[in-house]
Amino acid sequence: MSSLIDAARKLQDQLVTWRRDLHRIPEVGLELPKTARYVAEVLRNLGLEVREGVGGHGVVAVLRGRKGPGRTFAIRADMDALPVQEETGLPFASQHPGRMHACAHDGHMAMALGAAQVLSENRHRLPGCVKFIFQPAEEGPGGAKPMIDDRCLEEPRVDAIIGLHLGNIWDLPSGTVGVKAGPMMAATDRFEITVRGKGGHGAMPHNTQDALCIAAQLVGALQTVVSRNLSPLAPAVLTVGRFHAGTAFNIIAETAHLEGTVRCLSEEIRQQIPQHMERIIRGITQAGGAQYEFSYHWGYPVLVNDPDFTAFFAQVAREVVGSERVRELDVPTMGGEDMAYYLQQVPGTFFFLASGTEEKGTKYPHHNPRFDFDEEVMWIGTALFVETAMRWLSGAVRSG
Ligand code: NI
Repeated sequence: MSSLIDAARKLQDQLVTWRRDLHRIPEVGLELPKTARYVAEVLRNLGLEVREGVGGHGVVAVLRGRKGPGRTFAIRADMDALPVQEETGLPFASQHPGRMHACAHDGHMAMALGAAQVLSENRHRLPGCVKFIFQPAEEGPGGAKPMIDDRCLEEPRVDAIIGLHLGNIWDLPSGTVGVKAGPMMAATDRFEITVRGKGGHGAMPHNTQDALCIAAQLVGALQTVVSRNLSPLAPAVLTVGRFHAGTAFNIIAETAHLEGTVRCLSEEIRQQIPQHMERIIRGITQAGGAQYEFSYHWGYPVLVNDPDFTAFFAQVAREVVGSERVRELDVPTMGGEDMAYYLQQVPGTFFFLASGTEEKGTKYPHHNPRFDFDEEVMWIGTALFVETAMRWLSGAVRSG
């Protein structure tokens, strides 16, 4: 077994300590001062060059190998928690009311810190740079883009990137690695529609334009964007998640407000969707004699794993955990991730490390108040990071 993998395994207790420390202090969104300070301090103590406040609240650390300058490999971790009241009853549960690490980002940080420690202890044989990118706001409004805009992928320029997610999305046995080349996670857009009609008496519809009635037709008709306007071979989903209209049982609504999400796995398809939507919205509201406002908010892009890099990564993973614990996933998920922004700029891979077991009570869904993960898999995440970084910098693959 490689000495790096062994070092990751030996770091397991430290990974658990970091994870639990971070689990106690969950912070939400773009501003996470305690979390960023904690991470920056560990990285500084390891002798890395640390830059804080990147893109607002992100942390970037650079480890320069001593075996000559070379390419730069990045490891990304997300730092934010969720506005959820924790109900796990764990001894290291959240000390912040109404906030919880219910998506395992505490684990992601700990595993990336572990990689920083193992690689810094091996910097004499590291032929290049490793950059650690700790970002806020993955759960929204998005921390990757502001960090990229603040040049987190420059100086030194990142040549390849890797990141992971713990949890149960594909229901694989704990400790199994799941990965897929090409599109693996969906673009996540949001839309809002306001229908403006003319309110009036519930008994006299002929004197009104019923916004509620028009909006109800839109809910159904918008489904034809996917079923009748896009190729059946291109996965997409359009969900109206909110519908607000009306004030009383006997009043015809003057306005109606709809809000929803659109997901798809191709940027080309994605660009077409708002036009199809607007044509339907315009036609139906005009037919009802009403007006509309339509806004389409572009969210995270489609997450696309570089095929060459992913094949290389899958090979490394087979050697780290054994072939039987590496699954090349057949199907993507319609969930989204802002890791997608880095992968638009730089080849790399985002992968899943399964961490659900019935016995340990870690099979609750992501974002559930009882969410937890199997801590025993953490050394695997660190081992995958360090082994992939070292081999890639040593020239094992020339992707990108
Ligand atoms: Ni997450």
